[in-house]
Amino acid sequence: MSEQKKCPLTTSTGMSVADDQNSTTAGEQGPLTFMGNVHLFEKLAHFNRERIPERVVHARGTGAYGEFVLTKDLSEYTCADFLQKVGTKTSLFIRFSTVGGGQDSSDYARDPRGFAVKFYTKEGNWDMVGNNTPVFFLRDPIKFPDFIHSQKKNPRTNLPDAAAIYEFWANSPQSLHQVSILMSDRGIPYSYRHMHGFSSHTLSFWNANKERFWVKWHFKTNQGIRTVTNAEAAQLPANGVQHDLVDSIDKGDFPSWTVQLQIMTQAQAKDYKINPFDLTKIWPHADFPVMDIGQMTLNKNVENYFSEVEQATFSPGHLVPGISISPDKMLQARILAYGDAHRYRVGANADQLPVNTARCPVQHYQRDGHMAGMTQAADHTNQTSKVNFYPNEQAGSPQPDPAVAEPPLPILGEAWIQTYDTQDQDNFSQAGDLYRLMSEDQKNQLVNNIAEGLKHATKAVQDKMVAQFTAADADYGKRVARLLK
Ligand code: HEM
Repeated sequence: MSEQKKCPLTTSTGMSVADDQNSTTAGEQGPLTFMGNVHLFEKLAHFNRERIPERVVHARGTGAYGEFVLTKDLSEYTCADFLQKVGTKTSLFIRFSTVGGGQDSSDYARDPRGFAVKFYTKEGNWDMVGNNTPVFFLRDPIKFPDFIHSQKKNPRTNLPDAAAIYEFWANSPQSLHQVSILMSDRGIPYSYRHMHGFSSHTLSFWNANKERFWVKWHFKTNQGIRTVTNAEAAQLPANGVQHDLVDSIDKGDFPSWTVQLQIMTQAQAKDYKINPFDLTKIWPHADFPVMDIGQMTLNKNVENYFSEVEQATFSPGHLVPGISISPDKMLQARILAYGDAHRYRVGANADQLPVNTARCPVQHYQRDGHMAGMTQAADHTNQTSKVNFYPNEQAGSPQPDPAVAEPPLPILGEAWIQTYDTQDQDNFSQAGDLYRLMSEDQKNQLVNNIAEGLKHATKAVQDKMVAQFTAADADYGKRVARLLK
């Protein structure tokens, strides 16, 4: 046996440990002693604290590092530094996830997939926290907790509950477009490498002249779309998708995506036939063509899953100058929800963890809190001895920069504050358009997948759902109704 290099086992404070296999006791039948068991007690106490709360949604995920290379100068639309010069490389971290299942669920659930990218730009981190679908189930954030409750486990049985899932959708017709995507042949990706990513939301760009544009992001897989059916998914191992990504990167088979944008001017937005900020709708490509702007490649696996993937914190509120939000109410609510989740799930200083830290100077007047000064990086040692209040008279202290102020966000018409009911907006046309694009085989897969779950719902829920499918396309409704009989 080759001689192993000496590497002393230590306690967490660095003391060498003499024995890691036997506790210290007062003789064979005597009790554990306090003396000599420092290491045992430390092990047990740390073990009790190994878990942090899993994400309330998107709990099950896989992450990797990579880079984004810009292939189009976007200075006409945005002043974001990483989008100016063709060839600019920006390092990034991505986390893919399922949505509804806990950490112990399967990689092959029929569920949207999270597609969260953290771009480490020279001006701070920009997080694109999207999904593998271009739309979402809702357009008002007040419905989000109810929606998620209905999709997760039944509170009594702790089991998935197809009846509850459809009961929510039957009473939320704005979900129909996303439901039709989810139940289609695209509903279960074969792997994270074989799916697209979308901002889904309309975000905004603003340029050096402070002109604002509305933008949707698309990440098109260069591996091609590959999906599995319910029957195939049932045969696959729960960890198959995680394996696929880790193995392909370990082998040097680096997955990549072509990054594209749809851009709308403010003038176009004013007159456009659909509300450009309605998250349940796409912008048809015929009206707003996609343009290629770069390539994203994943090329490095994490060293430690917990510290780099579990503790990664993505937020639609992590913005950089030149990229901002839009009048989409879902997006606006997410700005609050994510930072709040991070403070609860990871801690007040989550931004100081290596996977989350910006790759540019971080200089501010926030101080202290749990685990402040976690990393060795100079900017993160709790801002060292630097002045901790503003305004101050200290030379070289951090100052706001008015040049990075974004242009005002327009409010259309007369501004008022009251609940804003969107029930009367068109929920069905785009779901119908999607249905009519499908081949016979795709239509059959769609209606069979729907019927498989919907048959567990009450007759009243089934009737409401069939009415929605019919409103999208008469044939769609007829086929589902036939299967339910
Ligand atoms: C009002 C609507 C929404 C709310 C309140 C909400 C809330 C949340 C929360 C609390 C988390 C867990 C964050 C954490 O613990 O780190 C999360 C994760 C996530 N959400 Fe949402 N969400 C909403 C809509 C959306 C939409 C529309 C998308 C996609 C377009 C999306 C994509 C994601 C992704 C990808 C993650 C996982 C991020 C990661 O990998 O850490 N969410 N969401």
